[in-house]
Amino acid sequence: MPPITRVGVLGCGLMGSGIAQVAATAGFATVVRDVAEPLLERGRAGIFQSLAKLVEKGKLDPAARDAALSRLSFTTDLSALGDRDLVIEAVTEDLELKNALWRELDGLCSPAAIFASNTSSLAIAQMAAASGRPDRFIGLHFFNPVPLMPLVEVVRAVTTSGETLETALGFARRLGKEPIVARDRSGFIVNLLLVPYLLDAVRALERGVGSTADIDRGMQLGCGHPMGPLALLDFVGLDTTLRIGEIMFEEYREPRYAPPPLLRRMVAAGLHGRKSGKGFYDYASDPPTPLDLGL
Ligand code: 3HC
Repeated sequence: MPPITRVGVLGCGLMGSGIAQVAATAGFATVVRDVAEPLLERGRAGIFQSLAKLVEKGKLDPAARDAALSRLSFTTDLSALGDRDLVIEAVTEDLELKNALWRELDGLCSPAAIFASNTSSLAIAQMAAASGRPDRFIGLHFFNPVPLMPLVEVVRAVTTSGETLETALGFARRLGKEPIVARDRSGFIVNLLLVPYLLDAVRALERGVGSTADIDRGMQLGCGHPMGPLALLDFVGLDTTLRIGEIMFEEYREPRYAPPPLLRRMVAAGLHGRKSGKGFYDYASDPPTPLDLGL
């Protein structure tokens, strides 16, 4: 299998831009593709800000930042990913949308190229089947914020070759991440455990067990978590978590994965968390204040 030097990233949201940032920092020529300029602009601004923070904290020297930026380019043109050795997809959790992209990319990329999905809950096997290269398709699941979280879950579908798995593990290590191998079951390892915990925190709030601030402080101070579950929901995105919960519930049919009504109501109201300015907290103030949800 040829070595990976050129990386393509589909999607310039929170995850896609983070993945592009770490790939470019690790020395890979990286092209990020999204459907509209404003989305690329937002992702680019996030990368600039994150790299600036890393330089400010002394974790990256300015020359390495400049080199990373010189390896990064942004495009709305899917065919710009045609010469990539590895394409990592980080678009919305919608199987049809992802598979339409894989089908189109299969016609654009070399048969040797590896395709990887950053999905956190959809079946890798279903994408592998649509990709035209089931043996060279794999899951690479990153964690938010990608530049700081050291983990990557590497997910082997029933059709993924051993060679593709080894290449993906090597790639994750070259990014400076620590890979773990997970089976192709919805949620893999981390979300299988994390999602029911986050949904339970919403249920606890809904049932009046404690306030937003106290639920979060409880888990921070009582269990040493860096963030409470409701702050983490705001960080990951309530819309994203709702979608993940729905997909996991569809797979397992276990109530623990069923999104609670409060989460659905908040998403319907546009309270998507940090990215929309409001979720369980209002981010207009610093520090953010718990939002009055009328409970
Ligand atoms: N890029 C670069 N630096 C960043 C950054 C970014 N995107 N975000 C934060 N930082 C830096 C800050 O400048 C700060 O630097 P310092 O330690 O040198 O002062 C440091 O990171 C810590 O930031 P803060 O002081 O603002 O806040 P915290 O101490 O709370 O740390 C955190 C932030 C690392 C996000 C920490 O709260 C944390 O680990 N939270 C949990 C995150 C988590 O659980 N992620 C997984 C989510 S699940 C997922 O992604 C899977 C998906 O499928 C749902």
